[in-house]
Amino acid sequence: MHDFRYVGKKLFCGRVAVESLVKKHGSPLYIYSQHTLTDHFQKLDHALAPLDHLICFAMKANSNLAVMRTFANLGSGFDVVSEGELRRVIAAGGDPRKCVFAGVGKTELEIEFALRKGIYCFNVESEPELLRINRVAARLKKVAPVAVRVNPNVDAGTHAKITTGTYENKFGIAFEQVEGVYARAAKLKNIRLRGLQMHIGSQLTEVRPFALAVKKVLPLVQKLAAKHHLEFFSIGGGIGIVYQPALASGDAAWWKTSAAKKILTPQTYAAALLPLLRPLGLKILLEPGRFLVGNAGILVTRVEYLKRTGRKNFVIVDAAMNDLIRPAFYDSYHEIIPLTKKGGATISSDVVGPICESGDYFCKDRPLPKVGEGDHLALLSAGAYGFVMASNYNSRGLAAEVLVNGNKSALVRPRQGLEEIWQSERVPGWM
Ligand code: LLP
Repeated sequence: MHDFRYVGKKLFCGRVAVESLVKKHGSPLYIYSQHTLTDHFQKLDHALAPLDHLICFAMKANSNLAVMRTFANLGSGFDVVSEGELRRVIAAGGDPRKCVFAGVGKTELEIEFALRKGIYCFNVESEPELLRINRVAARLKKVAPVAVRVNPNVDAGTHAKITTGTYENKFGIAFEQVEGVYARAAKLKNIRLRGLQMHIGSQLTEVRPFALAVKKVLPLVQKLAAKHHLEFFSIGGGIGIVYQPALASGDAAWWKTSAAKKILTPQTYAAALLPLLRPLGLKILLEPGRFLVGNAGILVTRVEYLKRTGRKNFVIVDAAMNDLIRPAFYDSYHEIIPLTKKGGATISSDVVGPICESGDYFCKDRPLPKVGEGDHLALLSAGAYGFVMASNYNSRGLAAEVLVNGNKSALVRPRQGLEEIWQSERVPGWM
């Protein structure tokens, strides 16, 4: 369970009142709990303890240096998808030798940088990419460690925009073609076949698709491991989290409900996968993103106006889709609660931002407590794919980020100054 809960009527993160952070750092404000980051990492790590394993945090979910340092200090590796991310790992004090590099479009420069830094493995997504890695490695007189990302063609049963393991998606190499690719790769002088990787999608709330995919791929891993002396099998990321109301607001009674029993916990995940993976005798890599950071973060926003139309009750807040795009992009649910607990009746509300698009909303027709101008709301479970997907749309500055640890808090990214938004732009001399 996460670290955000009411103490009396006030929302706290650890032992810090969220309101005090907003007073100090303004709004909109992302707040992360270091306790939750650590707790989630350790729970997963312990559940997998019977396996030789390495957690490579999918840093695309939250790449703030303080968040990354927290994981690096716990021994985490990182799943990176660009040179920028690899440079961030180094800046955060992470170890490139514990990094896997994924993505369908790695450029020559990115491959060269990763080779020079000695990453653990490239997760190769096509044969032309394999040939390119071999060429770059030859030029640098290096041997590149690679794994092929197998697309197992298993439906993860998640949102269409975040499913990745079927032949409708651009990711990986088709299951049937993988053996052939390994046979050809084995002949490339500057390639070392180190493992096999897969990732079927994100926000999976059941263990079944994971188990199905692993079961389907197992015979292939066994065959390839024996033939090419592979060292690891990566089962990717995708462990889903609970975005639903009761849990997010920290209601202990919720844990006794039948819905709670269905949650994909590290224990459920491990119980289904350990028996399949243990006999392999390979090192197991995982690339969780959302599970580690999602419920460790909130986005706090201020109510600017209330606007009643004939049909709607709009709560206009100072955060917008540029700060948290998930509701606009995926129709995602984020629970919204006031920083000061309110009693009384709820009112059906649309919480919307100031951006000039109808898609700029955080919820529609949701029963919420009555709030007034100047109140603050928290959007929960915003630690994953929140700040990292923010933009400067409408020339809005990026929000500030704060990390809390017990009774301590630190500003880990100051609010972006407005002039910073256009500081690197130039007007041509002819104007
Ligand atoms: N490994 C690979 C190769 C991935 O593509 C991803 C996520 C992960 C691991 C981590 O998945 P996770 O454990 O976080 O589910 N922006 C979307 C999610 C996009 C996920 C992209 N790939 C969202 O806000 O829901």
